[in-house]
Amino acid sequence: MNIQYLKIALCLVVTPVFQMTAQTKGINDLDLVVEHKIDSIIELMTVKEKVGQMVQYNGSFDVTGIPSDIDSKTKLEKLKNGEVGSMLNVLTAKATREAQQVVMENSRLKIPLLFGYDVIHGYKTMFPVPLGESASWDLEAIQLSASIAAKETAAAGVHWTFAPMIDVSRDARWGRIMEGAGEDPYLNSVIGVARINGFQGGNLDDIATIAACAKHFAGYGFAEAGRDYNTVNVGESELQNAILMPFKAASEAGVATFMNSFNEIDGVPATASSHLQRDILKGEWDYKGFMVSDWGSIAELIPHGFAKDKMQAGELAVVAGSDMDMEGRVYEEALEPLVSQSKIDETLLDAAVRRILRVKFHLGLFEDPYKYSDAKREKEVLLAPEHLVAARDIARKSIVLLKNENEVLPLKKDVKSIAVIGPLADDKDSPLGNWRAQANKNSAVSVLEGIKKAVGSATTINYAKGADLGMGERSFLMPLKINEADKSGLTEAVEAAENSEVVVMVLGEDAFQTGEGRSQTGIKLRGVQQDLLDAVSEINSNIVLILMNGRPLDLSKPNEQVSAILETWFLGSEAGNAIADVLFGAYNPSGKLPVSFPRNVGQEPLYYNQKNTGRPFSDMVTYSGYQDGSREGLFPFGYGLSYTTFEYGKLQLSAEEFSGDATIELSVEVTNTGKVAGKETIQLYIHDLFASRTRPVKELRDFRQITLEPGASKTVNFTISPKTLEFYTANKMWEAEAGEFEVMVGSNSVDLQKVTFQYKN
Ligand code: NOJ
Repeated sequence: MNIQYLKIALCLVVTPVFQMTAQTKGINDLDLVVEHKIDSIIELMTVKEKVGQMVQYNGSFDVTGIPSDIDSKTKLEKLKNGEVGSMLNVLTAKATREAQQVVMENSRLKIPLLFGYDVIHGYKTMFPVPLGESASWDLEAIQLSASIAAKETAAAGVHWTFAPMIDVSRDARWGRIMEGAGEDPYLNSVIGVARINGFQGGNLDDIATIAACAKHFAGYGFAEAGRDYNTVNVGESELQNAILMPFKAASEAGVATFMNSFNEIDGVPATASSHLQRDILKGEWDYKGFMVSDWGSIAELIPHGFAKDKMQAGELAVVAGSDMDMEGRVYEEALEPLVSQSKIDETLLDAAVRRILRVKFHLGLFEDPYKYSDAKREKEVLLAPEHLVAARDIARKSIVLLKNENEVLPLKKDVKSIAVIGPLADDKDSPLGNWRAQANKNSAVSVLEGIKKAVGSATTINYAKGADLGMGERSFLMPLKINEADKSGLTEAVEAAENSEVVVMVLGEDAFQTGEGRSQTGIKLRGVQQDLLDAVSEINSNIVLILMNGRPLDLSKPNEQVSAILETWFLGSEAGNAIADVLFGAYNPSGKLPVSFPRNVGQEPLYYNQKNTGRPFSDMVTYSGYQDGSREGLFPFGYGLSYTTFEYGKLQLSAEEFSGDATIELSVEVTNTGKVAGKETIQLYIHDLFASRTRPVKELRDFRQITLEPGASKTVNFTISPKTLEFYTANKMWEAEAGEFEVMVGSNSVDLQKVTFQYKN
């Protein structure tokens, strides 16, 4: 290497003259100045240094996977040599600064490290788990929560979150259903984009924003039988329309990175899929950010039976377009020999490095590699009071009222006595959910605490835990122990119920029942919770059931035993306060389910946007139903009650036909017919009756939220354009096909009015 040239190029990297401040919104808007700088850096790099940029190592601040056996001394040496481009699980302003220093002070080219972390629903301040937050259908609030999470994360020196997860998932058994926006591709798209915008802000270079990561590309949520990491088999139409739609939206929104997935699709592991990564993402969608592997997923090509050793795994993954190896230790071993033996072309490495450096430039790391690592800011920002205010607000917006017989809710604040019962009632830890980043243990407001704060001194609270649910130490890699036997607390619970006017029972799941690897074969209340509910309901039937859970549950029996049900998911730091707000009417519940709740596990995967089949349901035997039960779920997608009622006027369509790029308008008047103000989510579904590929019986394609005072009405307008109608057709492109359509509008995926129109192209 010409040493003079090296000096010049190093100047390019470190001197202010060449500082780069990315003003672009998304990663897809190329900045030519940056691209030239990247050219000159790549020109200087040895093959080893290029490979280094493609290697990500794990730190020790959190456990989010199975760490490889590399010792810390070797790791340090590799950092010094510029053989590592990124680290995950290195946290705090101090530690990130120190690690960055190792690279900046020792490596030849001084290319800053990129620090990543799973900030899934908050860093210190916890927001509702993503599935729960999605129940708000409130894109502004969701964006705000992501932006606060970004602010806290960035202040702790971390540049990049592995979120949002936008895997459409239809199976309640799959533990990771809790991490996404549920079963609908459109809802996953708009919520995914809101989260990306929240994390990345208008400018990645801002110290209050971080890079986002659309994951897992692709099909991870379709694991057979809901068993995590399991095989996926879908055809092209389903892949594009049901799975890829949110990823396309994420790419268009300029998400800085993608992560591939552990699963195979139709015989090809996603990590080695050129079709997904090269043809679709980097080809058709012209995506310019980089693709990180999932944890060790390149090495897992071997147990998949797709690669016989690390050399082949590395070759397959890099050729397929995986740019960075997360803790798989494959690229560091395989890529250099692959190049020297001419098995792969060095330009493949150049292209991957270019994408990685692009993200580092956009984050402003070349300008100041330490800019995010500021201990003073970290202290000021984490758990700032205004973050908790926002957390309470989004938490209460995420609560779904599933049942409210005889208007038992809201409770009166001067109710004489309330029994608060259940293993989760005074649990200050479970509301934090899984993937809780740096939340302090036991730091959530419990339901009991929330209720105590909300009621006056005249109300007696009779608390009884009743039973344990999860037992012992809980952590990411540890199996959860559930109390299946000890019912000794039931008597005390029954006594509490006997002596109280109203019973509030807090049941559901331990926080570690959902999340990675937390698949289940059953979805009923686990442990002795059903026994507890049986015992209490015999004594006092005036029960309000508060559910805490990360997946749809089988509520068939509890639904018959209680008067009211509030689905509260895992609501985060302010859970108890938010729940009390809804319990006592300070907030009128407005959440709507982002997933169908089945009658039993045998209905899974259950989703509203199913196909008609050649034999749509009838009472006869040879039709698509079940002989031992209903095929309809218990609570449908989009469902959620309010303390008020809304009446929908007749749907008005501006025309019954349109063509080309034209649009038509649909309007509907919505009136608050109850006694209190409330927020309604008006949902619009489309059905393409006959198409080149069969289409679902209905698909969400738009929604609006309005707040109405009692007696007030508002006309809600939707524009129907070719975009509203498009899908991935037999022509292998996203387009609207001419034909007959039904458009349905209403308050959930079942209670809908319908009108029809024709589209001609
Ligand atoms: C594996 C998970 O599948 C992925 O979502 C996560 O980001 C990584 N581990 C890193 O923790």
